Amino acid sequence: MDIIEEITLLKHERNAIILAHNYQSPIIQDVADYRGDSLELAKLATKTDAEYIVFCGVDFMAESAKILNPTKTVILPDKTAQCPMAAMVEPTMLQLLKEKHPHAPVVCYINTTAEIKALSDICCTSANGVNVVKQQKEDTIIFIPDQNLGHYIQRFVPDKKMVLWPGYCATHHNITVDHIKELKRQHPQAEVLVHPECRPEVIDIADYAYSTNGMLHYVKKSSNTEFIIGTEKEHCYRLKKDNPTKLFYPVQSAICKNMKKITAEKLLKSLKTLEPQIQLSETIMHKARKPLERMMQIGRGD
Ligand code: 13P
Ligand code: SF4
Repeated sequence: MDIIEEITLLKHERNAIILAHNYQSPIIQDVADYRGDSLELAKLATKTDAEYIVFCGVDFMAESAKILNPTKTVILPDKTAQCPMAAMVEPTMLQLLKEKHPHAPVVCYINTTAEIKALSDICCTSANGVNVVKQQKEDTIIFIPDQNLGHYIQRFVPDKKMVLWPGYCATHHNITVDHIKELKRQHPQAEVLVHPECRPEVIDIADYAYSTNGMLHYVKKSSNTEFIIGTEKEHCYRLKKDNPTKLFYPVQSAICKNMKKITAEKLLKSLKTLEPQIQLSETIMHKARKPLERMMQIGRGD
């Protein structure tokens, strides 16, 4: 029996569901029950009857699944698969910022720790960030932690003052205008799709900025057949799988090492041992649930 067959068999025996983010390695995407972006996976996690949710992604995604389903066991096959951007906000500094802007709601990107969500008013993902900010009645918004996503959202809400946290995702921040221009030189017919976590100047030269699922939706309906993809390069595997006749050109250096910590071997081990499990205090989960649930009421914008 090969490793895929072993995972599939054990998954059924355990009554477990495997969720995989679009940046996961091909073998993980193939063995997963569902693939998706942060928003879709968070929603799927609330709909499953499975006893165990095995989350192939990074810590904040698995934590969000646990917060939204406190009675379920949520497993992250490698505990060290952490999003470095989520670690860029520190509670004491956030408290100080809140004191400086006492009437400003804190809109918190889902790429944050549970502790930071617990201090926030509403969460968002890259798929619904514009809608979430538009729906805040206040003129000033504290937006954490991704300054690039914040700058992107600001384009759609010019009348609001967005106080941005200086965080960023290195995988996206390191995608440069030169990377995109060089790919465009090689593939002049291709449309350029980038993630809103990219720098503003990269978004400026792209045709569109979308969440990973937003890119999937766009590519499916587009009559174009070639696309330059400015996000984690593995997303091209998912795009190609769904659109086998179309061509995708990734930025080769755009790799999220933390996403790649989830391997088939670790996934199999997790199904055998039912470890490592996401453990969060009841108090933190209670406080962090509200901003996540508020976000769930707001539709995608992409
Ligand atoms: P998506 O929600 O667009 O999948 O993005 C998640 C993420 O971590 C991007 O780096
Ligand atoms: Fe975090 Fe960036 Fe990796 Fe997404 S790609 S999980 S934002 S480090």
